Amino acid sequence: MYFEMKNSKVYDCTMLELDRHHSNRKGNISVMENDKTVPFQVKRLYYLYDVPGGESRGAHGHKRLYQLIIAASGSFSVTLDDGEVKRTFLLNRPYQGLMVVPGIWRTLDDFSSGSVCLVLASEQYEADDYIRSYDEFLNYKRNG
Ligand code: TYD
Repeated sequence: MYFEMKNSKVYDCTMLELDRHHSNRKGNISVMENDKTVPFQVKRLYYLYDVPGGESRGAHGHKRLYQLIIAASGSFSVTLDDGEVKRTFLLNRPYQGLMVVPGIWRTLDDFSSGSVCLVLASEQYEADDYIRSYDEFLNYKRNG
């Protein structure tokens, strides 16, 4: 799986069904493994929590990063934008993950109280992989 930042589309981003082990009375377990559920090698995991109601996070794009975004608890919305088309996904199931490819502007909002946004990422943290200006993002998408 390889996407060029310049050419990626919101339609390249998909909601994945994660492995789920039920136990009617004792809760559930969801599992993600490299080369199985996750379509990239996970090098980093981080999670967002204590986001105040009404706040939005993550308005930025990435040049090389693949991400799998999961509402480990509660719910929030993720809006993806490839410079031409926008798609909004409601994440509210801990057994679903939204796969986001490089070259997508993404914004997270409508966090429910107590929600936890878990992100599995294909690269370690690199500040210069971020594009934080929307105009710069559009320029990348149009001109490379
Ligand atoms: P950032 O990704 O900018 O979050 P958001 O776009 O949602 O506001 O991260 C916020 C801060 O956390 C930023 O100063 C960098 C730091 N950070 C790390 O040091 N390592 C990481 O893996 C991440 C995701 C963030």
